Amino acid sequence: MAEAQAQQRGGIADDGFAEAKSGVRYEVDGEIATITLARPEKRNAQTFATWSALARIGESLPEQVRVVVVKGEGPSFSAGIDLRMFTSEGVPGQGSFSTAATLGDAGFEQRIRQAQAGFLWLRRPEIVSIAAVQGHAIGAGFQLALSCDLRIVADDVAFCMKEPALGLVPDLTGTKPLVELVGLAKAIDICLTARTVHADEAMRIGLAEQVVARGDLEQAVSDKVAALLSVNRDAAVATKRLLQGARQRTLEEQSVAEGIEQAARIKALFG
Ligand code: ACO
Repeated sequence: MAEAQAQQRGGIADDGFAEAKSGVRYEVDGEIATITLARPEKRNAQTFATWSALARIGESLPEQVRVVVVKGEGPSFSAGIDLRMFTSEGVPGQGSFSTAATLGDAGFEQRIRQAQAGFLWLRRPEIVSIAAVQGHAIGAGFQLALSCDLRIVADDVAFCMKEPALGLVPDLTGTKPLVELVGLAKAIDICLTARTVHADEAMRIGLAEQVVARGDLEQAVSDKVAALLSVNRDAAVATKRLLQGARQRTLEEQSVAEGIEQAARIKALFG
């Protein structure tokens, strides 16, 4: 495991996204990858370097990985985008919103797509991603949790989509999963009031799969990881593909898709 960790950490560092700059730590242990936001003294505030590091992890994720855990060190999962982005100085070496405002449309779109790439890969059918969320998950922090397949949360969790309160929109891939999880009316309520959603409500409206005491979060996540790893890998990938496509297909189309996936399974198992 130590060797794998060293290799993976080295990979990020070699690409210029060392932990010190990105605030991201990355470890691979067999079929499990763990991504840790590791700037607790700044409540795991996120920068472009954070999102670049996340994207690099997605690009280089070893094939054997089946479960990805995303967590944050310290009292908060993540306090969202680094507030220095709102200042004229910005984040050293990464600019500010003022510098972003000078980009042309194509340049701006490219920058946002680069940031979003750090989030999008967490939905791949080949993996199941779990956000382990304690304390504040604000703005980009909330969206990072939303980009994962599952959310296991501590009883002190505080989700807040603060972007509209700051004059922004949530643009780190969070709006679609939010609407799909809680419905349009509740998503409007949460985003357009920038209010905080606590553990009981998160569980009730489908933002969280499980709420546990703060001290039990790590164990709850590791139990879930073990359960996910206990099922057949290829069946898990095919089933996730089916579930992800279900909303876009008619019942008839979904039934056909089930048949196609099952034929491949039966052939693989018994052919
Ligand atoms: N960016 C940069 N630094 C931050 C951020 C942030 N988003 N959040 C907290 N910090 C820093 C604080 O400045 C402070 O630094 P200092 O010790 O050098 O003064 C340190 O982290 C601890 O912050 P506290 O506020 O003292 O921590 P506390 O636990 O009391 O509160 C909380 C945590 C509620 C998260 C609070 O820090 C907060 O409201 N942060 C800002 C949240 C925000 O507006 N984020 C932007 C959302 S929009 C988006 O993400 C696109």
